[in-house]
Amino acid sequence: MSNIVLIGFMGSGKSTVGSSLSKKLGVNLIEMDELIENSTKKTIVEIFEKNGEEHFRKIEKDLFLHIDETKNNVISTGGGIVEIVSPKEIKEKGTVIFLHATTEEIIKRTKGSDRPLLNVQNVEEKINSLLEKRLPFYEKAADIIVQTTGKDIDSICDEIMDLCR
Ligand code: S3P
Repeated sequence: MSNIVLIGFMGSGKSTVGSSLSKKLGVNLIEMDELIENSTKKTIVEIFEKNGEEHFRKIEKDLFLHIDETKNNVISTGGGIVEIVSPKEIKEKGTVIFLHATTEEIIKRTKGSDRPLLNVQNVEEKINSLLEKRLPFYEKAADIIVQTTGKDIDSICDEIMDLCR
């Protein structure tokens, strides 16, 4: 085995799947957003507000690159990891699973959440433009692509475990 690295857009299910999958496999979960908040003692929202996105990305990259690639952890990344870490560097950390969801589903799942990048007037337009930019990188980094729309957590985890066997 190696690390399982979950990538994908906000609302694609990385945190929920990561939590459930790590329990099923009996391994540690590294939740990147949590790691960033713990190491800076600030919330993601505070970092974006006080220090800006560029600063956030530097912390995100630094913490990600320091992850031990020899372990068997489940790593749940932030949706913007591909903005700052190359597909090659992501792949070096383990088996990369790209969790895919439709824009409609992403809008539903992220509604009412406090994601700084979605704090805009036209959420759908923002999601579509970010997706258009990021999709090629998610695809390039991915070893496996899993569609999450319309599936429950257990079946997504089973699918990943089958594919990683
Ligand atoms: C971001 C995604 C968020 C978080 C931050 C930036 C992004 O993580 O890291 O708000 O740029 O897509 P989730 O994908 O876990 O929501």
